[in-house]
Amino acid sequence: RLELRCERDGGAGAELRLDAHPTLSVSRAALLPPPGGPGDPAGQALPVENRPFTSYGSALHISLPQPPRAGQMLTLLIDYEAGEGPGVCWLAPEQTAGKQKPYMYTQGQAVLNRSFFPCFDTPSVKFTYSATVKVPEGFTAVMSATSWEKQKDNTFVFKMSQPIPSYLIALVVGDIVSADVGPRSRVWAEPCLIEAAKKEYDGVIEEFLVVGEKLFGPYVWGRYDILFMPPSFPFGGMENPCLTFVTPCLLAGDRSLADVIIHEISHSWFGNLVTNASWGEFWLNEGFTMYAQRRISTEVYGLPYTCLEAATGRALLRQHMDATGEDHPLNKLRVVIEPGLWGINPDDTYNETPYEKGYCFVSYLAHLVGDQSKFDAFLQAYVNRFKFQSITADDTLAFFLEYFPELKKKGVDSIPGFEFDRWLNTPGWPPYLPDLSPGQQLMKPAEELAELWAADGLNVEAIEAVDITGWRTYQLVYFLDQVLQKSPLPEGNVERLSKMYPKISKAQNAELRLRWCQIVLKNNLEAEYSKVKDFLHSQGKQKYTLPLYRAMWGGSEATRALAMETFSATAPQLHVNVQNYVKKILGLQVAE
Ligand code: BES
Ligand code: ZN
Repeated sequence: RLELRCERDGGAGAELRLDAHPTLSVSRAALLPPPGGPGDPAGQALPVENRPFTSYGSALHISLPQPPRAGQMLTLLIDYEAGEGPGVCWLAPEQTAGKQKPYMYTQGQAVLNRSFFPCFDTPSVKFTYSATVKVPEGFTAVMSATSWEKQKDNTFVFKMSQPIPSYLIALVVGDIVSADVGPRSRVWAEPCLIEAAKKEYDGVIEEFLVVGEKLFGPYVWGRYDILFMPPSFPFGGMENPCLTFVTPCLLAGDRSLADVIIHEISHSWFGNLVTNASWGEFWLNEGFTMYAQRRISTEVYGLPYTCLEAATGRALLRQHMDATGEDHPLNKLRVVIEPGLWGINPDDTYNETPYEKGYCFVSYLAHLVGDQSKFDAFLQAYVNRFKFQSITADDTLAFFLEYFPELKKKGVDSIPGFEFDRWLNTPGWPPYLPDLSPGQQLMKPAEELAELWAADGLNVEAIEAVDITGWRTYQLVYFLDQVLQKSPLPEGNVERLSKMYPKISKAQNAELRLRWCQIVLKNNLEAEYSKVKDFLHSQGKQKYTLPLYRAMWGGSEATRALAMETFSATAPQLHVNVQNYVKKILGLQVAE
């Protein structure tokens, strides 16, 4: 049921067009009489047609009796069934952690919810929603909503009382239970994971929220809960309001991957309150969120650790630009997304550029201001100015210049080489990089150790003198990124490294496993290829899966065979988007 208000006369005439998907089968559309007014409560049936639109969706054309007038309210009832579309994932019991019961979840971002329900599937439109969800006995439903209520007959009622864009509506139905981890937070997971989930985050979430509120203003969403998804969930985290979805890979046992939680919490202000109006400016969500994440991290963990984490982010940007070529059109902060069958799929903008180049641009703005507390105050004013709205980068930058009139007078938007326009529209490496040297105390030992391992004749004595047992996960990650960059290492070195550091080569931590697998592949360490396979069988996160297939495909005969074998075994478990990206890497045909 859609409740719409006509904003302007004219428009599409006597027609309403909604985003939909070929897998949505619509059986009836009807115009309901005004509440309390006369007329058939079942409404007046309307002609409806599901027409081709883009490679990632269709257009639902609904004919209205007459063109609506500005200010007019329309209530439409659409009967439909959602099927095997990309937004709704139906998992068999074997695809869950417990392997007992089936599971379903939705993933809306960027443009997948059009296969869940017909709507204006654009981040430029915000609305409230409610849902009544009836599930079979033994299942629980949860949604990204401000209220959750269980009624009789296994029926759950949800209400989201704040306006949000379509991509933030999310639903999970499964055998899931919850445990409190803070005054406004609980974790949700399958029963076999709930203990680990509680242990990982008990008593730590609230601090992140409190620091976020101190920096960016009130947390408006009521609860902040975390749902641990099945292993095939394609993202580290997804900031569904009130209920972040995360990969079970975060259950590292030592809280070492909490930066993902801080990231998703940061979206509570950047993305969920102030939203990019178009997926072409996805960096407004992710670049500001990376900046906010690192501000919170600095307050909680200190500057050295945060700079270290940011350095691993920079390494990811380097790898991404090397893989795609700096001049690739997706390596601009502003990407042109045109409608029609051949336009860029908004989901393709999910790469390191909006995150890490976006982070650099926001850091550059902070650098122009030159005073952290003034920039923090700006961020808070920005959220307050644009909360519950969808905006463009032009709005952001105009507000920045208006907030700092002395910078505007100085013409900071057009400093040669650093023009705002260049930041937005020129692909390639960021013209400004924030200073990460406060992380040197953590990075330096890792860099030096990587140097030692890359040497021709190994200086075993020097290597053994370095004790890595006390290193934090991100220090090891940084070390491995350095080793990867220097790979292939001289013959035999990687084998020795593997034996010397079982903490790394036998790690269970997903960030370490990813890097170790990359090193194994780049050094053709055949003895450990099984680790690549095992890792890809154990989880389906896109940012872990694609780099490994790229490495395998770019490698030897043997690694190509490994890629094919692994993909044919795991494809059914992967999210369809991830499946399609892997197919592209492997040169298999992708049906549009
Ligand atoms: N909103 C994103 C995930 C996303 C992006 C889903 C685009 C669909 C399309 C989420 O906030 C995110 O950025 N997750 C990261 C976490 C990381 C940067 C800490 C991820 O999944 O890796
Ligand atoms: Zn994000």
